[in-house]
Order: sequence, then C-alpha cells, then structure tokens
Amino acid sequence: MKMEHHMNKRFLLLWFIMAMQLCFMMLGAYSENNSKSLMGINPPVSIKYERNSSQVVITNGIFTLYLANPRGYVKGISYGGMQNLLATENEEGDRGYLDVVFGSFERVQGTTFSIVSQTMNEIEVSFVTTWNSRVAHSQVPLNIDQRYIVRRGDSGFYSYVIMERLEGFPAVTIDQIRIVYKLQEKQFNYMAISDTRQRRMPSPQDRAGGRPLAYKEAVLLTHPSEPEFRGEVDDKYQYSSENQYNNINGWITADSEKPVGFWIITPSNEFRNGGPIKQDLTSHVGPTCLSMFVSTHYGGKETEMVFQNGEAYKKVFGPIFVYMNSASSKAHFTSLWSDAKQRLSNELKSWPYNFVQSKAFVPANERGTVLGSFQVNDWGKVSPANNAYIGLASPGEAGSWQSESKGYQFWTRSDQHGFFVIKNIVPGRYNLFAWVPGYIGDYKYKYLVTIRPGGIIKLNSLVYYPPRNGPTLWAIGIPDRSAHEFYVPDAYANLTNKLYVNDFEDRFRQYGIWQRYTDLYPKNDLVYRVGVDNYRRDWFYAHVPRLTNNKLEATTWKIVFDLKSNVVRGNYTLQLAIASATYAEVQVSLNDMSAYPPHFTTHRIGDDNAIARHGIHGLQLFYSIPLPSSRMVRGINTIFLRQTRCESFFQGVMYDYIRLESPRV
Ligand SMILES: *[C@@H]1O[C@H](CO)[C@@H](O)[C@H](O)[C@H]1NC(C)=O
Ligand SMILES: *[C@@H]1O[C@H](CO)[C@@H](O)[C@H](O)[C@H]1NC(C)=O
Ligand SMILES: *[C@@H]1O[C@H](CO)[C@@H](O)[C@H](O)[C@H]1NC(C)=O
Ligand SMILES: *[C@@H]1O[C@H](CO)[C@@H](O)[C@H](O)[C@H]1NC(C)=O
Repeated sequence: MKMEHHMNKRFLLLWFIMAMQLCFMMLGAYSENNSKSLMGINPPVSIKYERNSSQVVITNGIFTLYLANPRGYVKGISYGGMQNLLATENEEGDRGYLDVVFGSFERVQGTTFSIVSQTMNEIEVSFVTTWNSRVAHSQVPLNIDQRYIVRRGDSGFYSYVIMERLEGFPAVTIDQIRIVYKLQEKQFNYMAISDTRQRRMPSPQDRAGGRPLAYKEAVLLTHPSEPEFRGEVDDKYQYSSENQYNNINGWITADSEKPVGFWIITPSNEFRNGGPIKQDLTSHVGPTCLSMFVSTHYGGKETEMVFQNGEAYKKVFGPIFVYMNSASSKAHFTSLWSDAKQRLSNELKSWPYNFVQSKAFVPANERGTVLGSFQVNDWGKVSPANNAYIGLASPGEAGSWQSESKGYQFWTRSDQHGFFVIKNIVPGRYNLFAWVPGYIGDYKYKYLVTIRPGGIIKLNSLVYYPPRNGPTLWAIGIPDRSAHEFYVPDAYANLTNKLYVNDFEDRFRQYGIWQRYTDLYPKNDLVYRVGVDNYRRDWFYAHVPRLTNNKLEATTWKIVFDLKSNVVRGNYTLQLAIASATYAEVQVSLNDMSAYPPHFTTHRIGDDNAIARHGIHGLQLFYSIPLPSSRMVRGINTIFLRQTRCESFFQGVMYDYIRLESPRV
C-alpha cells in the first residue's frame, strides 16, 4: 500500500516533468517560428503603467514594449535575451518614433495616452497629439493618433497612425512622413531587404571616418574597423526599393550566439504616396530600419502632400508589423530572413486586419472590389493587356497617380489574358488608371469609379489605345517607365558597393556611374545608328553632362537613321518617353542642330533626382513631338537630342523609350 502510494507519486512527478518538458519544447519551437496554433499556451497580454510615470509597459511573454507616456515613442523593446533592441546610446525619443517633414522637422509627440481596448488576447493603446495654433510654427497642422497593438502569441507588434485635419487648419506642404527604428549598433550588423540584397554592413563610425563624396549621403569608407569594407561606398539610397517590393526590411545580430532579427513588415501599399513603382528608402547604416509612408524621394516637388488653408483630411497610415525573431545558433542567422519572409506572407493573407480598433481603418467587409478585363488596341492590333499595372487613385489626369500623395491607392497586375481584380478598396471616389509594359502612355477610365462598402464593380472589356500617329520606323528601348534595359556601365573599382558587383539586375545602384559618360565619350557625344547599334550596349542609361577640363558641358546625342523610302508628306512623330528628369531640358532637332529656337524643347523639367539617388527611373514624362516632313530627307537623317542644363553632374534625363513614326497615310 505504502509502496503503491510512493509509486503513484513518482509516476505523477515523472508525468509532470514530461509534460513540462513538452511545454518548453513547444514554447521553444514557438518562439522560433511563431505559429498561431499554439496561442493557448502563451500568456495573456498585460499592460503596466503608473498614473504619473513616463512609461507604459506592454508584454505578452514573448517580448516587452516600453512606450513613452504620453509622448508615444518607443523607448525600448526587450526580446530574445536582449534587454533593449533599440539604440540605448540615443536619447529615449530618438529610438523608435514617427516624424514629419513640412519645411521643419518634427518628431511627433503625443500629449494624451489612453488604452483603446484590453483583453487577454490583445491590447491597443493610443497617443494623441492635437494641433495647437499657439505653437503652430513648430507643429505640423494635423491631429495625430499613434496606435500600438500587442497581441497574444505574436513575436512583434502592430503600429499605425491616424492623421486628421479639421476645417480651420492652416495650409501646409508635407514632404515626408515615416516611422524610424534605430537599433543597437554593436549587435545589429547584417541587413536584409530582399533575397539578393542583404549583407554585412559597415558601422556609423566607419562612415564618420570616411570621405563624403559628391553629396553627404555617399561616403567612401577609408578607415573602416573591418578591412573588408575599405574602399567601398556606403549610401542609403543604394538600398531603395519600389513601393511594390518594399514590404520587408530589417537587421540581424549576425555575430550573436543566439541571433535576433528585427523587421518592419508592410502588408499593404495603400497608404503610401506615388503608387507602386515609386522608390523609397528601406534600411541603412545606423543601424536604421524605416517605414516610409510619404516622401518626395525619386519624385521631387510634384510628390509633396499639399494642403490648402482650411482643407479637411483624414487618413490611416498602416498598420505595419514590427516583427522580431531569433535563431538557436550563429550558424543559422540567415534563417531569420526566410522566417521573416514567411511572416510577411502570413501578414499579406490577413490583410486587411480584423483586429484594428480605430473606426477610421476600414475592415475587409466594408471594402470594395473592382474587377474586369483589359485590352490594348495599338492601331487595330488588339491583344490582352498582359501584366498591366491597374489601380485606383484620387481623381486626376491620366498618369496623375505617380505624383498623387494624399489619398489611398490600390493596385494590381493583370494576368496574361488581361483579367484583373483589385480587392480591399476603401470606399470613395477614384479614377481607374493603368499602364501596360511594352506600350507607351497612360490609361484612364473615363468615368469616376465610386466604391461603396462591400460593393463589387465589373468593368469588362476596357480598351487602351496607346498614342500612335503612324507606323513605326524604328524604336529604341522598351516602354516600361525605366532605363533599366539601356547600357549601365561598370562601377569604378575604387567606388563600389560589393553587394552589386555581381548582381546584373541591380548594377544601376552603384555610385558614380554617371561619370562614366565622360570616360566613354571624352570628346564626341553618343551617336546611335539605327539598325546597327544595340540599345542594351550603345545607349548610355542617363543623358548627363560631360566633364571637360574640370567644366561640365551640355551634351548632344545623335540618332542617325536611313529613311529608305520616299518622304511622306505630313508630320512624322517622335514619341519620347522620359523615365526621369532632374533640372534638365531636352531640345530636339531634325537634321539641323543649329536651328534656333530648336524644333522642340521640353523646357526645364523634373527634380526627381534619380540619377544621384541610383534610381533607374523617377517620374515619367511623355512627349509626342511632330517633325514636319519638310525637314526629313530620303536617305540619312539625324535627330539631335541636346540636354542643355549642366550646372551639376546630376542634371540630366533617363530615357525610357524613343520611337519614330511615319505620317499616317
Ligand atoms: C516550426 O516550423 C517547423 C518547420 O517549418 C515545423 O516542422 C514545426 O512544426 C513548427 N513548429 C511549431 C511549433 O509550429
Ligand atoms: C500624480 O500627479 C498628480 C498631479 O501632478 C499629483 O497630484 C499626485 O499626487 C501624483 N501621484 C503620485 C502617485 O505621484
Ligand atoms: C577612382 O579611380 C579613378 C580612376 O579610375 C580616379 O580618377 C578617381 O580619383 C578615384 N576616386 C577616388 C575617390 O579615389
Ligand atoms: C504638323 O504639326 C504641326 C504642329 O503641331 C501642326 O500645326 C500641323 O497642322 C501638322 N501638320 C499636319 C499635316 O498634320
């Protein structure tokens, strides 16, 4: 009897230990890959704050978030054995924050803290700033509500921002809105923004000890602490991405025994400005991790958010998800990238989130859908619009989406049959816009599209008639809003970013390649012979000035072609698509370079600065230029493209596509 009792106790103890072990194993596995199925074993979310204390602490057992009360910035994140992932050497307000650039620079600081909702499974908190007319000069005229959501079992937190203007708020122009995280610089040393674009990064000290190049963001690393970085260029603009691909970026503590990853996951582009191909920053030396909501990068003034005096406004930016993960050993640190990508795909599936408390965030069942089919009719040749970009944006001219910075935008790609579905559209009035790779110009559906909650709109057989005045005589490039297909030279051996040395796709991101124009064409400018030359090899990616005797000079490119048939009376048309322009002017002449005034000029165009920022495009500009047949000859003709502005290396254009058409007969 006694013996049996003893046995039972031992058995129970053993059973208990086994159960605990199982629990720990599961917890271990959980923190590694964060599956939702184990929600049950995770502790509830809890919040702690004292009435007069300057912080709010939220934890779910996986990580702990320290928020400034009532200012709303992130002071600390403790996770994976690290007391604080954020840069503790910085002031508390300079670690994880929202900022706005509107002539001046403001880190947004809340004045009122509240708990929006609290259950065992989820806590949402709010930090509100109300615009105060008395301090108007230093505060952007917006009411701003910064929200954080911590959910049970999640290895990370959501954050979003509601911005509102009321009637009576003064005019303002906003250049940038973003969330910034600055991480522990001793530990976070490996940056990842895509499968191919990831590397060990230099430190801020390496930059500080280096030599600034043509502008302060680009630094030649002359005395880095690790010899492997010596002679490399570091420039945050080398890590930009188009909005459509800018949905995950972050850092890893690659040399830790138990590496930790910190990631910003952006499940939707709906709240960003400028549409799907606008480029923006991601992560960069700091170590800094950005979530860009609005900026003028690669767009210039046209992409500013401009508010009139008294203009009312309301928009939700986000949510974004800040994700943390950890690996069991140093050897596996890159698995944190694949795991973060996995998490991204889960976030994409659960968009639009159903747990966001603000009424300003429209839930899935109150959003609308537009679907349909889209064709191109290019002078009677009809084909499905394959892989077209189709989107809704605030009403405007065809193509206006690329500089539209205030409303929401919703984009998709059509399939090979031209079918498309745009889901999860916030109710409102929009224009439907599109463009089709392979064809010039911009499509706009002629009627306004009004999205109602839960509404489905079918737009069958939309047809795009791209600009064309006659048959093609010749063409240079591919109409795709980018100069990517043209000749992008090798970087200077002493000015490389090693990441892009063997990466053909991204070679345009190297510093200084614009200056290769002078090396390649030291005396005479580029001449392109139609039918002989190949634009991939012989058409320089950017039309920039040349440096001669330490002076920049304007350059004139020539397109030489042989018109084998008789001249057709009427106008020939030069279809000129420009992928980027920066304080440039292109003058066009036919067979007479000295014609003054020139036959055509774009006048001063653009400030997207994409040449200096290593973008392969900025904003699209399109010109249909009539060339009267009186100037054309049978036989050899020359079109002159003169880029006249040359106060800086970065003044120039990147062409997208050039085509000459005969008159219609
Ligand atoms: C974690 O991921 C691995 C591999 O993807 C999977 O086999 C395992 O079941 C997952 N563990 C948990 C706890 O979800
Ligand atoms: C909190 O602050 C209020 C007003 O400043 C003060 O009256 C109160 O005594 C403080 N409470 C504590 C616990 O410090
Ligand atoms: C890089 O090398 C080129 C010659 O290829 C030289 O003209 C230039 O001054 C060098 N630049 C730097 C920053 O050392
Ligand atoms: C050719 O273009 C010019 C300038 O746009 C225009 O004035 C003229 O009418 C055109 N000629 C023909 C034949 O279309």
